[in-house]
Amino acid sequence: MALDSSPTMTLPDLEARRERLLRVLPEAEWELLRPTLAAIEDWKRQRNAIVLAHNYQTPEIFHGAADLTGDSLALAQQAAATDAEVIVLAGVHFMAETAKIINPAKTVLIPDPAAGCTLADAVTGADVRLLRERYPDTPVVTYVNTSAEVKAESDICCTSSNAVEVVESLGVPRVIFLPDEYLGRYVASQTDVEVILWKGHCIVHERFTPEEIGRFRAAYDGQLEVLAHPECPPQVLAAADYVGSTSGMVRHLETAPSPRVLLVTECSMSDNVAVNYPDREFVRPCNLCPYMKRITLPKILESLIHLRYEVTVDPEIAARARRAVERMLVVGRGRGG
Ligand code: 13P
Ligand code: SF4
Repeated sequence: MALDSSPTMTLPDLEARRERLLRVLPEAEWELLRPTLAAIEDWKRQRNAIVLAHNYQTPEIFHGAADLTGDSLALAQQAAATDAEVIVLAGVHFMAETAKIINPAKTVLIPDPAAGCTLADAVTGADVRLLRERYPDTPVVTYVNTSAEVKAESDICCTSSNAVEVVESLGVPRVIFLPDEYLGRYVASQTDVEVILWKGHCIVHERFTPEEIGRFRAAYDGQLEVLAHPECPPQVLAAADYVGSTSGMVRHLETAPSPRVLLVTECSMSDNVAVNYPDREFVRPCNLCPYMKRITLPKILESLIHLRYEVTVDPEIAARARRAVERMLVVGRGRGG
């Protein structure tokens, strides 16, 4: 294939992105970003590629470069549905691996292979095998924030938007839930199914405290709606008005007209959502995910130009992991988002 790196993105496309970005970025910054954004569009066309971006990516990626955006479940669903030959995953490694598991014949790229996740690092395939010995005949439900090897050892995957429904879909009295302790506790609070927990935590969400939320409520005289991600500790969830996945928060905002909201989750989430709600105030006590922030516009461009870094999964592991992911996709989206 002949490749041409000159930026040829049509003006109306770039204008639409500019219009959205100028709601969160100054004009001067847009002018600096414009050549890179135009080159990314051009290379996407030449490669028959799409950029999938998680809700925690920075606005210049989320609004400036992504073709499809969403939470972990939406990214998996979109990866399953795309006709593009190349998928660039602007997110973290487990998301790219999930896209590859669903699409073994496609080229899946992650712009920085060091974009990891503390939850994915918290459990191994060997841990799952040991748990199965300890709790025979107990199904293993695994959060998508895990490696392909762990998914391959699991009965079914889930995301924060469908964890309760996935657990209940099994029709059993007890499940092993890996690796997020707090999401597992949240699931246990919403169902009669007994949940055996693991001690994995997200470094972003475990740092929020109920005292912090209390201080914000006091500062705004209670005129504040608090939306929290279920990866937060139980005391934080108890102090929130709504609990749900990142896309669950987006959907909740569409129906709830609160003029001032606090999103208890990663920093970029509020920046991205605020673009759609110029009349609402977003209070931003955020924690940054250092893994999500490894992805940048120049790295996305390099990824498209050099087709790097390609995500590969051993075919035997991928086949077993695919069963767990596809079983989850049949359950779909639940109440949490
Ligand atoms: P969701 O976007 O699925 O809510 O998950 C958040 C997350 O942990 C991504 O890293
Ligand atoms: Fe992992 Fe937490 Fe970062 Fe999500 S926000 S990628 S769960 S460390």
